[in-house]
Amino acid sequence: MEKEKFYITTPIYYPSDKLHIGHSYCTVATDTMARYKRLRGYDVMFLTGTDEHGQKIERIANGQGMEPKEYVDNVVVGIKELWKTLNISYDKFIRTTDDYHVKAIQKIFTKLYEQGDIYKSSYEGWYCTPCESFFTEHQLVDGKCPDCGREVELVKEESYFFRLSKYQDRILKHMEENPEFLQPNTRLNEMINNFLKPGLEDLAVSRTSFKWGIPVEFDPGHVVYVWIDALSNYITAMGYGSDDDSLFQKYWPADIHVVGKEIVRFHSIIWPAMLMALNVPLPKKIFGHGWLVINGGKMSKSVGNVVDPNVLVEKYGVDAIRYFLLREIAFGQDGNFNNEALIQRINSDLANDLGNLVSRTVGMIDKYFGGKLPDDRTETAFDKDLETMALNTAEKVEAAMEKMFFSDALVEIWNLIRRTNKYIDETQPWILCKDEAKKGELANALYHVAESIRITSILIQPFMPNTPEKIWKQYNIDSNLVDWDMTKKWGLLPIELKIEKGETLFPRIDMKKELAALESAIKASQSTAVANQGKEEKKEEKKKHEEPEYPAEITIDDFCKVQLKVGEVVGSSIVEGSKKLLRNIIKIGEEERVIFSGIKPWYTPEEMVGKKVVVAYNLKPRKMMGEMSYGMILCADDGNGNLSLLTTEKKDFPSGSGIS
Ligand code: ME8
Ligand code: MG
Repeated sequence: MEKEKFYITTPIYYPSDKLHIGHSYCTVATDTMARYKRLRGYDVMFLTGTDEHGQKIERIANGQGMEPKEYVDNVVVGIKELWKTLNISYDKFIRTTDDYHVKAIQKIFTKLYEQGDIYKSSYEGWYCTPCESFFTEHQLVDGKCPDCGREVELVKEESYFFRLSKYQDRILKHMEENPEFLQPNTRLNEMINNFLKPGLEDLAVSRTSFKWGIPVEFDPGHVVYVWIDALSNYITAMGYGSDDDSLFQKYWPADIHVVGKEIVRFHSIIWPAMLMALNVPLPKKIFGHGWLVINGGKMSKSVGNVVDPNVLVEKYGVDAIRYFLLREIAFGQDGNFNNEALIQRINSDLANDLGNLVSRTVGMIDKYFGGKLPDDRTETAFDKDLETMALNTAEKVEAAMEKMFFSDALVEIWNLIRRTNKYIDETQPWILCKDEAKKGELANALYHVAESIRITSILIQPFMPNTPEKIWKQYNIDSNLVDWDMTKKWGLLPIELKIEKGETLFPRIDMKKELAALESAIKASQSTAVANQGKEEKKEEKKKHEEPEYPAEITIDDFCKVQLKVGEVVGSSIVEGSKKLLRNIIKIGEEERVIFSGIKPWYTPEEMVGKKVVVAYNLKPRKMMGEMSYGMILCADDGNGNLSLLTTEKKDFPSGSGIS
């Protein structure tokens, strides 16, 4: 029988910087789904790649003194390495600079032009380069990008337009008739009420003011708008618009496009309109997941709070990181990334529940039976309950996976793991072993635990690809006993089960010691990430410094953008080679930061330590004397260059307090 196909995609990533754990989250989730479907017998096509054109990439490359192509070639190598590190099992990797893609985009553009879906006019409006997104004046929020809050630029240029408005009714109808097309439901409602019902405007789909894009075939002064280029990857990667479109014939329509919530609009409105114009069927489902946030804000390079997945994987192993991401965050919602929660999960769920179950059982089979279970067995009173639960878990996992509820699926598996640990407590092997007459019960109990471990090892495969092998080795579990359907059969392990002691799956972590080490490893990787940001942002900063006219009045909203906090100076030292700077370590609540401050002429390091100071907390980190500085210590300035620290009037006021 021919296998059923399953085509799943991640967004294609901007090679604009080193990818962080937030990016990894999306890919890990998609990979888990792909692995799950393969296990279930599907013929899976898992596509990922890079979105390499556009003004943003051109600027970053130029800022680093490179040609765009040279720049992206470098970054893409790193992205592929990261996917390898995270065990991402993609079947195809598309780069939008690939020749076949470029040709297909030109064909698509020409076809849409020739059939009248694209027309020439001129564009005047606002553009957010980080989002590569057009906005009208009234869409802006306080004159800034409504999506990311950053500065927008006025764009006035000749442009081709796509007749997006023409497809509005069909898209609305499609969404209303097929609510599963866009999940979760909140995103569906948002698209309908905020975008489709108010009405769509035609979309500018070419640019003339820069070069780094795919030239319009019949008007090469124009390059194709990067989102038209990017979205099409899902079909061009399958050969659409090339001489060989057999993959397209086989796999399209996509079963799921997994995307972050900020790009749902492009995928659920612009992309369907393009496909309708091309007379190509729509994808079956778009799933808009939430963000990984840190202290309530999106993890992102420009905020300077990114966490490097390589650091985490190196410390705790890839399976632990994948487990954490999928378990801790409900797919679809935002989830907080937090070092303490990560270590907590590793210790309790992985080291304690799973790791300990696997190793203590091997230990008992070794100790009580010399590593091999005997074949005479006696049932215990607790067997049936464990068997039933174990045999029913797969079905619950399946139900959760169909909805992409990875966290729920893991909860079900861990219920089984905890139930198995409880079974050990119920049967009490350490008591049974003392009575020769109970040896049959003892053997039976350990066999039950081993069977439950076998079933667990099958279920965790999509989430944690490395761990099952390690379990199979210790329990001599044959590769023909680990198909998904083998989770629904009891008693498959050989009666005379033989074990081999192996490595600890997940070593316990000393929370206190490790937290500090982890924090400093993350900080160290952040300073290189920020230092590597390219000169573009520095240029922007410079531009701002050249504008001396500050508005006389600001609104309360403007004022609230500056986050001020009380910090305690816990360390301070002189900076070699600097007349003014002290390097201070400031404790703000639970967190410690390095902040450089030009106050050496007025305070000695000894005087600094112990002082409560006021810190501009959300200031963009900047490099000073070769090291990153995270914020600014506020001082009064008498205009003659004399400084005095601002402090709290009550000396014992807690650090971390806000200022209002
Ligand atoms: O948007 N938490 O690329 P991208 C969760 N090139 N997900 C996050 C995240 C976070 N903190 N930060 C980023 C693009 N992501 C376009 C896509 S598709 C035709 C073109 C996710 O590199 C983000 O939501 O900015 C998106 O789904 C993916 O990383 C790539 O983001
Ligand atoms: Mg983005």
